[in-house]
Parts: sequence; structure tokens; C-alpha cells
Amino acid sequence: MNTASHIHHGQWRREDAGQVDFEDVGTWIRLARLLEDARFDAMFFADVSGLYGDADADFDVYVREGLQIPSNDPTVLLGALAVQTSEIGLALTSNILQNHPFNFARQVSTLDHISRGRVAWNIVTGTQDNAARNFGLTRLPEHAERYRWAEEYVDVVYKLWEGSWDDDALLKDRAGGRYSDPDRIHKINHVGERYRVEGPHLPSPSPQRTPLLYQAGSSSDGRRFAARHAEATFIIAPTPEIARQQIAETRALAVGFGRRADDLKFFQGLSFIVGSTEEEARRKAAEVEEWVSVDGYSAHAAIVDQRGRVYPPETPLREVETNTARGFLDWASRAVRDREPLVADLALQRSRATRVVGTPESIADQIETWQDAGVDGINVINWVIPGSFEEFASEVLPELRRRGLAQEEYAPGPLRQKLFGDARLNGRHPAARYRGAFGHASSIDEVVLSR
Ligand SMILES: Cc1cc2nc3c(=O)[nH]c(=O)nc-3n(C[C@H](O)[C@H](O)[C@H](O)COP(=O)(O)O)c2cc1C
Repeated sequence: MNTASHIHHGQWRREDAGQVDFEDVGTWIRLARLLEDARFDAMFFADVSGLYGDADADFDVYVREGLQIPSNDPTVLLGALAVQTSEIGLALTSNILQNHPFNFARQVSTLDHISRGRVAWNIVTGTQDNAARNFGLTRLPEHAERYRWAEEYVDVVYKLWEGSWDDDALLKDRAGGRYSDPDRIHKINHVGERYRVEGPHLPSPSPQRTPLLYQAGSSSDGRRFAARHAEATFIIAPTPEIARQQIAETRALAVGFGRRADDLKFFQGLSFIVGSTEEEARRKAAEVEEWVSVDGYSAHAAIVDQRGRVYPPETPLREVETNTARGFLDWASRAVRDREPLVADLALQRSRATRVVGTPESIADQIETWQDAGVDGINVINWVIPGSFEEFASEVLPELRRRGLAQEEYAPGPLRQKLFGDARLNGRHPAARYRGAFGHASSIDEVVLSR
């Protein structure tokens, strides 16, 4: 994330934490080149558009912790990274609140042109009241309502990306004096519950048209949305067995929507601590734990009281009242057996939850276990930038390559082609129905009248 404290809170205080210089574009350019040299498929940026927690609560903890504030816009950053790299995928997160779909579609098409087809979009519905208030709402709409909203949002952008321009609409015919062919560019005349968008899309078709679509929701609405729309899903399953179940269910839903089970890839989020021996790895893990910020993890997980205040670290877990992280509380409570489990234990458990500690060989063994559970890829979540990625690239990737689990070279072409063999969305995806769908209706009123 384009910020100092994204997931592993407190680590930014370390001497080797380059993420404190996230405002310096050089930090990201160096990282993007490192990842590209190591043949990572993509560089993924999370994003939010507000503070965590209750919108009316004090935000002192969030600000002190640097918990996703300050943070900068990933979409703008990707423009810089696109011209400093040539192969690596560039994934941004944008929620449905923060940008009108007409404008968003145009920004993404522009980035897809600049990057020659390497953009992915992580579709999120938002989780923050504060973000909703930043965009004129009084509070975040209900969960199901957000996913209904997302359905309309993607419908608008699909129409613009897939349906507004025919493939041969752009002529650049100097001799004939015709830049584009008016018969092959269409208004979309979208009229829905929240949006009225006439079109046409202003950019010409970019290499992928629709960016590669990521999604990261784990609720049943979120999974249905992923099954229908996503080409790759981020999961943070606590165990390979749970991942297996979640993946099988989502793939089955995708088939129910007329897609194929393997139209969707699953990326498990994991953090790594690598040692040349198991003992060295454990020692390094203990060092990482010294930097864990209890307040940071608690605030991110909304372990807050009735007034929205983060519970102090020494609070017994049985006194914590929250609806948001009940399962996690129970799990953390069970992990401590010999004394009263505290809020501080919860933070430690969260930092350990998807952490893999070991030698390159034992880490590769564990990655194989995730692969056996149906996971297609790993979303490497850093402790520090760039150290966590340098270590993964130099220590773990050679072992993965030896086992045929990581690519030696990039496949040619745009991001979707690299991952799925074709630069364009396949015909089973719901966006495909808008190809060639817009004829001659020339105004919104005409469409409304004909309904
Ligand atoms: C790996 C991962 C990454 C996520 N990244 C973001 C993000 O960058 N921005 C965001 O607003 N939500 C993010 N989320 C939250 C989800 O997109 C989603 O909003 C949340 O899980 C609630 O949806 P659900 O109730 O369907 O699970 C992420 C979730 C996961 C698992």
C-alpha cells in the first residue's frame, strides 16, 4: 500500500523500513524494478479512502501509528511505475465510493495504454464509515447494498470498456482525414439506480480493454461477486484446509454463473521470515515480534470499545465487546492457555496468523501445501520495504524455481495474456455481453422510452 503501515503495524519503526519514505517515488520505482527482475507476476497496491474505526471516535491512535494515514493514491503512482517497468503487472485498488465509474474507466484505460496492458483492478466495496462520509454519505451503506451498488458500478465500466468502441473504430487515416469511424463508436446510454452515463468512452480500446479483475471479499455476497466477476481473488485463509474449502465453493459458484472453474485464480496472502537454519529463522521471527504494535493491530481490526476507542493492550479478551472480529478473538483466546489472554495477545496472533517461518526448503514445502489446496499464487505481504521482497527474491524464489513453482521468464504480452493466454476477457465473463451490443440509440431519453 502507498503508505507506511499497511498490515504489519509497528514494523515501520525499524531502521531498515524503507516504507517510511513511501512519498518518495524512488522507493516504489526501486521496488518495482526489484520485483520485475525477480519475475513477480504483479505488484499489488491496496487502498482505502478514509480512516478505520468509528467515524466519530478520536483518531489519535491511527495517526500515531501511521495506520494507512498518511497515504497516497496508488492509481497516480502506477502511472510512474508503468514507464519505469516493462513486464510486471500493476494492480490498483479502487472502491466504488471513491470515483464515478465514467471517470474511473477513463483513468484505467489511460493506465492500460501507458503500461501497454499491464493494469489490474482490485474491486472493493469499502469498509469504512469515514470513507463514506468523505463522499457525502452519512454512513457506509449496508453490506448487501454495497454489493448491489458494485454490480451497477461494474456494469457501467464494462459497457465503456467492452462495448463503446469496436475494435476497428480507430483509423488514424491521415490521407482520408478520418481519425475514427463514427459508426463504430457507441454511446452506452446507461440508466440505472445510481448512475446515468451516456458515453461514449473517451479513450480508444487499450490492450486489455477491461483491466485484469481482482476481488477480495470473503463474505457470501463477496464470494458471489468474485465468482461472477473476478479473474483473481485474494484470500487470507488461516490454513490450507480452509483455503481448499473456500476455493472449491467459489469455483463452484463461478461454474453456476456459466464460467469455468479455472477462470478464477486464487492468491493467498502470506508473510515470510527466512533463515539459513530453522533456528536462525525463529530468532529472526522473535526480532520481528519485538516491533509488533499492539495498538496498530487492534485499531486495524476494530478492537474498539463502545466509544470507538482502541482497548488498552492489558485488557483481558473476555472484556472486549466487538461484533467485527469475534472469530479472531476466540482463536486468540484459545492460543493462550497458561494465563488470562489479553488484547496484546490478539495483536501477536494477528502478526503470526499468515506468517511462514523457516528455511527456503521448508518454506517451499509449505507453499506446495497451499498449492495442493488449490491456491494458484502467493500475495507476498511485507514486513519492511524492500527487505522482505529482497529476501524472498534471493532466498525463496531460487528454491521455488528448482521445484518448477515459479517462472523463470515472463510470458509475452499484456498481463491477462501472461496469466490466462489471452489479452482480452473470455466470452464467458459477464462483461463480454457488451461487445457489439450498442447500436444507434443516441440519447438516454430514447433508451428510457424504449424500456
Ligand atoms: C487480501 C485482501 C486485501 C484487501 N484489500 C483491500 C483494500 O485494499 N481496500 C479495501 O477497502 N478493502 C480491502 N479488502 C477488504 C475486502 O475487499 C472487503 O471489502 C472486505 O473483505 C469485506 O467484504 P466481505 O464482507 O465480502 O468480506 C481486502 C481484503 C483482503 C482479504
